[in-house]
Amino acid sequence: MTQGKIRILCVGPSAVSYRDLLAGFPVEISVAEEMTEGIGAARRTDPDVIICSAHLPGGTGEAFLRKVREDDFFGGSGFALVSPGTGETDAHLSGGPDVVWDGSETSGRLFREIRLLARLRGDGEALARSRERLDAAAILVRKQKAALKKMKRAALNDRTMLQNTLRQVTLMNAERDRLREEATLLSRVNRGNREGIMTLISSLIEAKPGCPRGHGANVAKIALFMARDLGLDASETGNIERAARLHEAGKLFIPDALLRKSPDEYTPVEEERMDAHPLKAETLLMGFTGFKAEASIVRHLHERFEGTGVPDGLKKDRIPLGARIIALADGYEEIASADSSPNLGEIFSRIEARVGSRYDPKLMPALHRYAAAHPPGDTERCIELSMFELKPGYVLASGIYTALGAKLLPVNTVLTEAAIERIARYNKIDPLDEKVFVKGTVQ
Ligand SMILES: [Fe+2]
Repeated sequence: MTQGKIRILCVGPSAVSYRDLLAGFPVEISVAEEMTEGIGAARRTDPDVIICSAHLPGGTGEAFLRKVREDDFFGGSGFALVSPGTGETDAHLSGGPDVVWDGSETSGRLFREIRLLARLRGDGEALARSRERLDAAAILVRKQKAALKKMKRAALNDRTMLQNTLRQVTLMNAERDRLREEATLLSRVNRGNREGIMTLISSLIEAKPGCPRGHGANVAKIALFMARDLGLDASETGNIERAARLHEAGKLFIPDALLRKSPDEYTPVEEERMDAHPLKAETLLMGFTGFKAEASIVRHLHERFEGTGVPDGLKKDRIPLGARIIALADGYEEIASADSSPNLGEIFSRIEARVGSRYDPKLMPALHRYAAAHPPGDTERCIELSMFELKPGYVLASGIYTALGAKLLPVNTVLTEAAIERIARYNKIDPLDEKVFVKGTVQ
C-alpha cells in the first residue's frame, strides 16, 4: 500500500472502468488491456491486488494468473478474476484466483473485497517475515547447539585432562612419600652407622696407653655444655660433641711407647709427631661418611689462641669455635681428672695461666658455669656475680680479661676498692664480660 492507499492493477478490456467504479475509495489504480502489458504493469507497480477479466485479448485471465504466480516478483498479490455471467465462478475458482466476481458487485462491496485481499497480502508478507525470522532463529539455535556440543567436548577433554593430572599428582605424592620413608630409613641407618663408628674409635682410643677411659666422653660433656651456653644451634653443638668424643683419634697412629712417655721426655721429632696427631684424626674421620664437620674441627685442636699453634697457625677467632671450645674443655678435663681430690681454685689457676696464649678468654665464663653446675669432687664453691656486685674481700675464681683478651686481674686476686675501681674504669673504655666468678660464699 502507498500512503494508506491500496495499489490495484486492473487488466482486461474493461480495466479502465474500475477507475470510475472505485472513485472516492483509497485506491491507486493502474490499468493494462492485455496479458503482456499486464505483466509489465505488475512488475512496475507491485500491486496489492490484481483484478483481471476472465477473458483477455490473446488469452484467459487464468493463464495470466499462472504467469503472475510463476513470477516470484509479485507472487504475493491478491488475484481477483472477474467473470461476467452467472454460474462460471466456481469453475474459475478451481483455476487458482483468490476470488471470482461475476461483475455485478456494487462499488462498496467491491472495495471491501479488495481491502480484504490487500489485508491478506499484508498478512502473508508479515507471515513471510515471521517465517524469515523463525528461519534465522533456527539457524542461530543450530549454531548455538553446535557451539554447546563443542564446549561439551572441550569440557570432557578438560575433565579427562584434570583426571589424568590428578592421577599423576597422586602417583607423585606416593613416590614422594616412598622416597621420604627411604630417606628416613637411610638417615636412621647412617646415624646408627655413625654411632657405631664413634663407639669403635672411642674403644680403640681407650685401649691405647695414656688415654684414660671416659676422657673423650667427659670432654664431650663439657664441650656440649659450653656450646649450648654460648647459644650455638643444635647442628653446631652436635658437631662439637662428636668431635670432642673423637678428639684423641689421632693417637691411634702414635706408637704406644711414645704415648707412655711424659711430655717433658719427648724429643723434638716426637713432640712434632704428638702435635700433628689432630691431622691424623682429621684424615681418619674424612675416610668415613658423615664426619666432615667433625674432621674440620678436630684438625685445629692444637692451634693456639695467640696464633703460634699447628697445623695452620690460626689466630683468635680464625680458629674454628668448636676447636677453641674442645681445646679448653680438654685442658680442664685433663687437669680435673688427674687429681682424685681436685680443687676448683687450683684447676682454674692452671687453666688461667694459659688463657690468652693457648685458650680463648671469651670462653672462660662458659667453663665456669659448667664447673659451677658440675663441681668436680670435693671442690670449693664458686659463685657467678655481676661485676657491679663485687665488693672488697671477694676472691676471684677466674681472671678478668679485656675484650681483646688481655688479662686485667688474675685468678685468686683478693679484690680491693682500688681493684674494683680499676675494673669499673676499664669497663667504660673497653666493656668487659659482665659475669665474674668469685670463690666461697658472699654476703
Ligand atoms: Fe684430650
